[in-house]
Amino acid sequence: MLLAKQIPVTERLIVALDLPDAAAATALVERLGETVDFYKVGLELFMAGGCFTLLDRLGAAGKKVMIDLKFFDVPRTVAAAVAGLARYPGAFVTVHGNDGILRAAVEAAPGLRILAVTVLTSLDQGDLDDLGFVCDPATLVLSRARRALALGCAGVVSSGLEAPKLRESLGPGFLIVTPGIRPVANREEPPKDDQKRTTDIEEAFHNGADYIVVGRPIVKAPDPLAAARSAQARIAALFDAAAG
Ligand code: C5P
Repeated sequence: MLLAKQIPVTERLIVALDLPDAAAATALVERLGETVDFYKVGLELFMAGGCFTLLDRLGAAGKKVMIDLKFFDVPRTVAAAVAGLARYPGAFVTVHGNDGILRAAVEAAPGLRILAVTVLTSLDQGDLDDLGFVCDPATLVLSRARRALALGCAGVVSSGLEAPKLRESLGPGFLIVTPGIRPVANREEPPKDDQKRTTDIEEAFHNGADYIVVGRPIVKAPDPLAAARSAQARIAALFDAAAG
């Protein structure tokens, strides 16, 4: 199921700027140039400083941004934090919490697109057992997504593995942003890195994702520009084939 939405094809790839400092992130953004139109900034860059300057620069360059800080705190604090990001209208902002937390985030900044983190793609059944959840990842993802949408979130962050069930149960009208993108060959035991519930580019979109988030496969590639171009070519081929 490939969902044709009014999303420019080049914006469907979100590159995660998981780099040690803003200078390294700026250098990568310059290197990727027009190949990438959407970037995610997360905890690593925020801890390094310079992140707001980088966000301003990305905005000035016409790039879209996803601010992935996975806010999880009491509702008032989450509302205040989200309100602080209102100056980046249209940005995707991740929140990781229960109904009260998600509601606070949604109400704090109507101009932002709040994405609920469902279950981290680095967690598998064993990890959920360890955390005390008495259900499987698919059930937890669906239950969290259903509540998030009812509360006014624009969409969810979800593994591509759970995307088909989300589309089947909740319809086409919300955003699914899918990290944990790896070549299928990487799906081996033990996994090559911390991502466990992975899909490849084609599988993620065919399963119902609207956007994919790719970090290490591009950022740590010997040639990040070539890796980004290759990802964009694969995405364009998918959606061109669907349109044609
Ligand atoms: O390097 P890699 O492609 O695994 O990067 C994935 C990115 O997506 C990381 O920045 C990670 O923080 C983020 N992410 C994730 N799982 C989520 C939400 C965000 O892997 N549920």
